[in-house]
Amino acid sequence: MRTTDIAADFGALGEEFTRDPYPVYAGLRARGPVHRVRVPEGAVGWLVVGYEACRTALTHPALSKSWRDASPDLPLTRLSAGENLLSSNPPDHTRLRRLVAREFTTRRIEELAPRVAALTDALLDAMLAGADGRADLVDALAFPLAMGVICELLGVPSLDRAAFREWAEDALSSPDQETRAAATASMTRYLVAMVAEKRGLPGEDLMSALIRTTDEAGDRLSPDELIGMAWLLLVTGFETTVNLIASAVLTLLRHPEQLAALRFDPGLVDNAVEEVLRYEGPVETTTYRFTTAPVEIGGVTVPGGGELVLVALADADRDPARFPAPQRFDIRRPAGGHLAFGHGIHYCLGAPLARRQARTALTALLTRCPHLALAADPARLPWRQGLLIRGPRHLPLTWHPTPAPT
Ligand code: HEM
Repeated sequence: MRTTDIAADFGALGEEFTRDPYPVYAGLRARGPVHRVRVPEGAVGWLVVGYEACRTALTHPALSKSWRDASPDLPLTRLSAGENLLSSNPPDHTRLRRLVAREFTTRRIEELAPRVAALTDALLDAMLAGADGRADLVDALAFPLAMGVICELLGVPSLDRAAFREWAEDALSSPDQETRAAATASMTRYLVAMVAEKRGLPGEDLMSALIRTTDEAGDRLSPDELIGMAWLLLVTGFETTVNLIASAVLTLLRHPEQLAALRFDPGLVDNAVEEVLRYEGPVETTTYRFTTAPVEIGGVTVPGGGELVLVALADADRDPARFPAPQRFDIRRPAGGHLAFGHGIHYCLGAPLARRQARTALTALLTRCPHLALAADPARLPWRQGLLIRGPRHLPLTWHPTPAPT
């Protein structure tokens, strides 16, 4: 392959790819670990596939997260507000991560656990009370749970959830640059007002703690960094978790023998969630990286000078070199080592919270709905667009026992 050839044009691949992108990634992997591709927004960049190559890319010192390192020729719109962990490199990243890690502690997550359980139960009460015995799991449980938990964690109960949901989906998944930019601008305006309000009325929540926090050396988050942190925690906090819950339920329903095994032994839930993360993780390719020097991975050299690089986590976790028979969904396999939460210094800060919500939601749903079934043709479900977030946009379910044939 000449490295100037475009190996895949993701904007042109259409619905089939959105529904099932794995064969395309596997086809690329069969030809090598790094490929020149066109992303749906139109920019040309490089895609890394395969487990080892992805791990290498995620820790490569010449792959920058800062938009200051992006080539000015790239037709891309920056999606985040303020400065945040995912748009910074050491030493700025080290400093930001230290300041947020002081407050985003295991204890804070553990204290949320009873609230996660109570919210799940209340949402299931409402869902199961519905007259016709059918509901969209995304609207009835996955979205309100993930959003409710993150709002509670941050202490922003009055957040306009419907508006935020739409902006986040547009900003992260729309192929149209103008739609993405407009949604990001609306979200930023909203967050500036929200942080200002929080300053005036602090509480015990994470956002108030981040406003107050000062480390031993007197360092604290600047106003711009606070906006960035609010953006990152809110958006990454619910966008991903919604899809983990929805994909977990869909994948189990599509593998009835695995669902039966989990019903038989509910203790398998932790491993089942790990296997869903591996098999159908919510982050398909990572957030953007930019080269600050030539980067050599698996014999291919990506030039320096701000070239765009994406890391295909979805493919890494289906690489047979790391996971035997990777296309088999098996809730008993040792699923550890998957890259669904990333790897290296940007490893997901919210992983324990996401796992907690998925385990709680799955256990409660299966306990309360012994006759759960899909109420739609799985081949026709609408999926999230774009390369970043993966998951069904809607998941129609029914929970009434099928009448026995007479
Ligand atoms: C299933 C749910 C989740 C998945 C699959 C997920 C996945 C990821 C991935 C892949 C990254 C690294 C991105 C990269 O290197 O480009 C990341 C980073 C991050 N995630 Fe998550 N995430 C989830 C839930 C959450 C939640 C619930 C929160 C917060 C409440 C959160 C907060 C963050 C933050 C702050 C970072 C940036 C860390 C850094 O740059 O140091 N995530 N996540």
